[in-house]
Amino acid sequence: MKRIAILISGRGSNMAALIAACERERWPAEVVAVLSDREGAAGLERARASGVTTEVVARSAFDSRESFDAALAARIDHYRADLVALAGFMRVLGDDLVERLGPRLVNIHPSLLPAFPGLHTHRRALEAGVRVHGATVHFVTAQLDRGPIIAQAAVAVHAGDTESSLAARVLAAEHRLYPLALRWLVEDRVRIDGTRVSVQGIGPADQLLWHHR
Ligand code: GRF
Repeated sequence: MKRIAILISGRGSNMAALIAACERERWPAEVVAVLSDREGAAGLERARASGVTTEVVARSAFDSRESFDAALAARIDHYRADLVALAGFMRVLGDDLVERLGPRLVNIHPSLLPAFPGLHTHRRALEAGVRVHGATVHFVTAQLDRGPIIAQAAVAVHAGDTESSLAARVLAAEHRLYPLALRWLVEDRVRIDGTRVSVQGIGPADQLLWHHR
């Protein structure tokens, strides 16, 4: 059984999708903890309602990022997490922690990376006039939003889209994409070859999900 820790800062809808898929599909895994850097994160309540242990490691309780990262690392160690899934976790982790976790650490980002790293991806996609947008699940490396890509979901941009309508369409895709990719990791099927990632037992075409809606 793989032990999964999920890190959140807010609403936790991706977290909820991961917890639900792990149970429903009977992954050989368990979500052992949900950790939040914010006391008021709505996702904490959702996690507790699913019977998952929650903990807050408040950034405000530490006077430097190093001490915050060290506290977070200690909790991840405590739960003996084999996989650490960032799901709307709004802090950049320091290089030491990223290096220490290595390929156990993955993230979901709401764009087709390497387009639109960072914040406000939907607004920027609309401004850029792209016809296709989406989400990416990737390994976390020291360079923000640039780690090896495990899977992507492509979403059409519609003529009348606003930032919120586009965000909603991408979020629905995220809820399909993240469980798909995390399951491959749970099953030890993911191989990193330099900057490229392959998944044993599936073709590269299946690392791209077309989200129609
Ligand atoms: C998602 O769009 C995720 O890709 C981004 O932040 C959002 C978090 O939403 N990093 P939720 O907390 O999972 O609902």
